[in-house]
Amino acid sequence: MATSELTYDPFDAATNVDPYPIYRRLLSEHPLYYNPERDLWVLSRFVDVQAAVNDAATYSSSGGVRVDDLLELVGPSPLTTDPPRHGLMRNVLRPLFAPRVMRDLEPTIAASVQRLLDRLDGRNEFDVAKEFAKLVPVTVICHLLGVPVEDAPMLKGWADAMLETVPGSPSATPVAWAASAAVRAYWLEALEARRSEPRKDILTAVAAASTGTTDLSVDEQVGMCNLVFEAGNATTGSLISNALLALAGFEEQKRWLAANPDGLPGAVEEFVRWESPVQSLLRTTTREVEIHDTVIPAGARVMLQLGAANRDPSVWDDPDRLDLSRPPKRNLGFGEGIHFCIGAPLARLEAPAALSAFLSRYPEYSTVSGKRFHDVALRTLDSLVVRVGR
Ligand code: HEM
Repeated sequence: MATSELTYDPFDAATNVDPYPIYRRLLSEHPLYYNPERDLWVLSRFVDVQAAVNDAATYSSSGGVRVDDLLELVGPSPLTTDPPRHGLMRNVLRPLFAPRVMRDLEPTIAASVQRLLDRLDGRNEFDVAKEFAKLVPVTVICHLLGVPVEDAPMLKGWADAMLETVPGSPSATPVAWAASAAVRAYWLEALEARRSEPRKDILTAVAAASTGTTDLSVDEQVGMCNLVFEAGNATTGSLISNALLALAGFEEQKRWLAANPDGLPGAVEEFVRWESPVQSLLRTTTREVEIHDTVIPAGARVMLQLGAANRDPSVWDDPDRLDLSRPPKRNLGFGEGIHFCIGAPLARLEAPAALSAFLSRYPEYSTVSGKRFHDVALRTLDSLVVRVGR
């Protein structure tokens, strides 16, 4: 079959609304794609993406893991650091996401979900993305970090503003830079307070690490606070919003879930696979790499298209179909290798708690309107208005 020339530009707004037709062509026709204007290589097949995330020596994260300016705005963190420093930084955060800590969080998560739903009670229509899904992780992350929950809207406002880029380009807007300065001042003050009055929270761990053997720089401290706040919020909020949109569109899947509540954890993995909140990661090659009969030079920027790899037909039957009853199989939605998502256990608590509570209160909801958020890596919704039929 003759096919037209493919142009894949991750900054294109139309692609962002529905990237899947292009992913299918990347997977079948261009397993290694090069966009000369962006000077960007793209890998999309599961085996290639998996091999790259497991080879940090060749595919470095230190040039940032997104194809825009965000690294400069948020500061360095384990996400954007290579070994050996990566391990030191990751170890500061790891104990704070240990299984026991997660188990203890369950009642906090359940209570916060119910509180958010109670606030919507009595309304026939509301924006479930803005008024529920995005708010579920905020309370929990404030609790873990140790910041007052009243500061959450301000912090969330800054975190969202930092994602703002000039349309069609990787450049951050002046609003994004202003937000970055404001949030930096906020974290520096909070970290200073923890040095004189330590508590059991992430801020204290980050503040203490800066004076201990790890000796984090000021920029790294700020970067780690930003990372935990942003990585913990935007991604999980996306997962819940994307899932609620999908369930409203696929009635038979919603019915299956209602009849099989034990299938919820598996369903959450399928939502992560089918509509991956993090669609792509960036890496920079540290040496020449030969792949698909082509040599990628050293120092090249390579986009790892998780959202495509998770729909690779050589791994999943009928990959574009949402099937909540699929037998469990690991997908790449939380990454893999040394940078594997530290917060995955938390997201795996929050999303099922939010979805089951929402579905039991509003089993018959339907969507009124939805609007995708334009972002080069994050697949999420700006808004999702639902009617709950009461
Ligand atoms: C559905 C929810 C989530 C998704 C899809 C997700 C996805 C990811 C992915 C793909 C990576 C790998 C990045 C890379 O290899 O460059 C990652 C790393 C990370 N995530 Fe998540 N994440 C989620 C939730 C969370 C939560 C709730 C937190 C914390 C509260 C969190 C904290 C982190 C951190 C700290 C890293 C960096 C780990 C490292 O570089 O060693 N994430 N996440």
